[in-house]
Amino acid sequence: MCMKPDQSRPCWQCGLALLVSGWLLSPLVAHAQAVPLAERLQLCAGCHNPDGNSSIPENPNLSGLDADYIVRQLQDFKSGSRKSPVMSGIIPMIDDKEFPALAEFFSKQKPKPGAKADAKLAAQGKEIYDEGIVGSAVPACSGCHNEDGSGTEKYPRIAGQHSSYVIQQLINFKSGERANDVKAVMRAVAKRMNEKEIRAVAEYVVTLKGAQE
Ligand code: HEC
Ligand code: HEC
Repeated sequence: MCMKPDQSRPCWQCGLALLVSGWLLSPLVAHAQAVPLAERLQLCAGCHNPDGNSSIPENPNLSGLDADYIVRQLQDFKSGSRKSPVMSGIIPMIDDKEFPALAEFFSKQKPKPGAKADAKLAAQGKEIYDEGIVGSAVPACSGCHNEDGSGTEKYPRIAGQHSSYVIQQLINFKSGERANDVKAVMRAVAKRMNEKEIRAVAEYVVTLKGAQE
């Protein structure tokens, strides 16, 4: 890519740019050094908020997620089996040894209720969530994620998750952009849904409160 159209070798400006970016990035990539949890959490808090209830709807809530689920997602971002323009830039800085403590911290944070939803759309979403879509063989979400969205050991909590994040993940599973789901279960579900159905179900998911203590 770093070629001028009339040259077969890299132009010197590009070479310099590569060299400089190499210098700038190499400490981050090469030395993913473990730092104390409190210090590391400041980095996460910038996007996921200190209590894991993020204010920006594109950044998922991490509060109340199962710790093993969080660890695996972090590993998948690191190995590249789950891609995200944002997290893929963050994760090389973090030592794998930090993953369990980070996961433990966020799994213990209390989830906050999701944003107010469009009632009509959410009612359509509830039907899909509880019953699935018979015509296109979409299974009920509740069968795996629980009726209240609280999830199980095997299936992640989705209750109260930001609808724009849920929509994006379903679109990513549908297109195969996200392909780190074991046995392709979510890809099989999302593939059968159209965008209107995805929007409706996401609008319902945000209203779910999870298990009440
Ligand atoms: C610059 C913003 C940013 C920072 C900093 C950041 N994240 Fe993220 N994080 C995101 C975004 C955006 C996503 C959604 C990725 C996608 O689209 O799949 C995400 C996704 C995740 C997920 C997947 C959640 C799920 O439900 O599957 C986990 C776990 C996570 N981040 C943990 C962390 C931890 C731990 C830190 C701190 C070490 C951190 N993040 C720092 C923006 C950020
Ligand atoms: C057969 C079980 C099953 C069914 C049915 C199912 N899911 Fe999932 N879902 C999963 C699994 C497993 C994952 C975790 C994927 C992974 O390992 O990364 C997941 C992940 C998700 C995620 C991503 C969560 C996150 O934090 O990033 C969303 C959103 C989601 N499912 C929504 C739905 C919706 C909406 C439905 C119904 C239309 C549904 N699921 C039906 C098993 C299921």
